[in-house]
Formats: sequence, C-alpha cells, structure tokens
Amino acid sequence: MIRLRKLVEAGAWLMLAVMVISAMGCSRREKEGPKGTEDNPWIIGMSQCNLNEPWRKQMNKDIVDAAAKHDDIEVLFKDAQNDVAVQQNQVREFISQKVDLLIISPKESKPLTAPVAEAMDAGIPVIVLDRAIEGDKYTSFIGGDNLLLGRAVGQYVAKILGGKGKVVELKGLMTSEPGVDRRQGFLDGLGETLGPGKIEIIYSSDCQWLEGKAVDDMQSVLARFDQIDVVYGHNDPMAHGAWVASRAEGKGREETIKFIGIDSLPHEGVQYVRQGILDATFYYPTLGPEAIETALKILGGQEVPKKTSLGTKVFTKDNVDQGGEVIEP
Ligand code: FRU
Repeated sequence: MIRLRKLVEAGAWLMLAVMVISAMGCSRREKEGPKGTEDNPWIIGMSQCNLNEPWRKQMNKDIVDAAAKHDDIEVLFKDAQNDVAVQQNQVREFISQKVDLLIISPKESKPLTAPVAEAMDAGIPVIVLDRAIEGDKYTSFIGGDNLLLGRAVGQYVAKILGGKGKVVELKGLMTSEPGVDRRQGFLDGLGETLGPGKIEIIYSSDCQWLEGKAVDDMQSVLARFDQIDVVYGHNDPMAHGAWVASRAEGKGREETIKFIGIDSLPHEGVQYVRQGILDATFYYPTLGPEAIETALKILGGQEVPKKTSLGTKVFTKDNVDQGGEVIEP
C-alpha cells in the first residue's frame, strides 16, 4: 500500500515536472517583443530522414556550423531514423510547436508531401533539401543536380570502358528523386554506347542508399557474373559496399573492377579515391550552408528562388590532390 502511494506520488511529481517544462517551452515561444533577436530568436525545425549515413551527419553539422554564426536563429533537430511514419510525425510535432520555419530532408517524396503541405497551411515556410516532394507546395527546394550527376557518371563510364564492357548499377531508393534522376542521367550519359555488344548494364537493383544492402547484392552478383568491369553505386557507401563484397570474395576482383560513387565527403568518398578503393567519386554538396542562408532570407521577408540546383565535380586519383575537376552543366 505504502509502495503504491509512493508510486502515485512519483507519478504526480513527474506530471508536474512535465507541465512546468511545457509551460516554460510555451512562455519561451510567446516572448514579447520582436522576433529574430538574440533574446528571442527565430526557431527553425530541421527534420532529417536519418543520421546513419555520413553524408547526412555532415549535412546536420554544416547546418549547426552555419547557424552558429547567427544569434537570431536557433535550430531544433529531429532524426526520423529512416522511417517515413516517424518523419511524418516529427514534421507534425514541429507544426504544433509552431516553429517559425521548417527545413526538411525527406526520406521519400510521396509520403512527406502532405505533412509539408500542412506546415505551409499553418503559415510555416518550408525549405526542402536534397530529395524533392511532389507538387509545389513548399517555399524553396535546394538540391544537387542529380540528372547532371548521373549524366557525368555515364559519360565517364563510356570513356573509361572505351565504349564496351559490363556494368553493375546499385541504385539509391527509387521512391526518392535522386535515385530516379541518377539512373536516368546515367542512361542519358551512356547514350549510344549502351547496347548489346557495347556497354551493357548486366545487373541493376534498388539498394536504398544503404551500404549493407550493396554488400549483400554484390555478393550474389559476383557469384553470377564472371565479367564485371564497372560498379556504379548511386552513393559512395554503396560503391564502397560493393568493393567490400568483392574483396571478401577472395579472388582479387576488387583490383580489376572499377568502383564509382557519388557524394565525395572528404573523409569518405575522397578518401576512398586516395586509397585506390574507388576509381572516382562525384561531388554532392550537403546543402547545409545554403539551407541556412535561404532560411535567413525567408525569415527576413526576402524573396527566394523556388528551386536551386547546385553543381558537381569529379575526384579521381589524377585530380584528387588538385581538389577535383568541375563538371560543366
Ligand atoms: C544519404 C544519401 C546520400 C545521397 C543522398 C541522396 O542518405 O543516400 O548518400 O547522396 O542521400 O538523397
């Protein structure tokens, strides 16, 4: 009986603590005076689809660093752990928190379209990063030019293969726009060199951007095909996963196959090129600094472009020490 009373008391205290903390949260949001000051900063909600991949960790870090230069904003982060339902809920939480602006890097296009529209309906401007949503109900989209990236990879592969060879393509999530564009751009870039007796894509699968899936798929690809000349991973983790599987096979094929990826983080893809693991990596900016720059403009009442597309460059062993080579659109 006494234990039960203690539990009830503990519960009551907990409830009280939660109420006080929420009340503090409310009063903070309802401060008097102008917004966008050191005392009363704009609150930005940042919904990240996952933090498992190095590129996304870097994006968040770039946002933290860019935001730290401005006293008039504060960024709150949520990590959806690669789960669409979690990300939908987290966006809705930001809406009920009444953030002043939302930045979202969605996992998939379709399911995140409605929550973004709800934020817009609630008067919250939305910046979408990297993976697009459907339609045009958002304030500003910032991404890399994935068609350009795919095309550049296709042209590069056509060149290194001299127009003939066998290619394996490990694709990003095909319900996300970069996956679709990196595929389409690749086919465009291969152009006339694609076809029987020329360059052939002997295997292509959706590895959902995940290194682990690329390792698994590559294991079965190696067992099925004697000749593989190039592996194109839609990101560096997947290209690296293919290399890991090839090395684990123990036949030395990691030396003859050329592995190509996308992202070019200094401590990931670029490092792999230096180590001779990847033949090439194509740069995909993290978009973090641009997101904060755009957020500040929106909060300051300025017009911003509906769509911004950033360029790319390629790193190979020949140019890595010079900082890569810019790819002209
Ligand atoms: C990280 C990531 C990057 C890739 C981007 C595409 O989740 O897979 O490696 O460039 O997303 O949306």
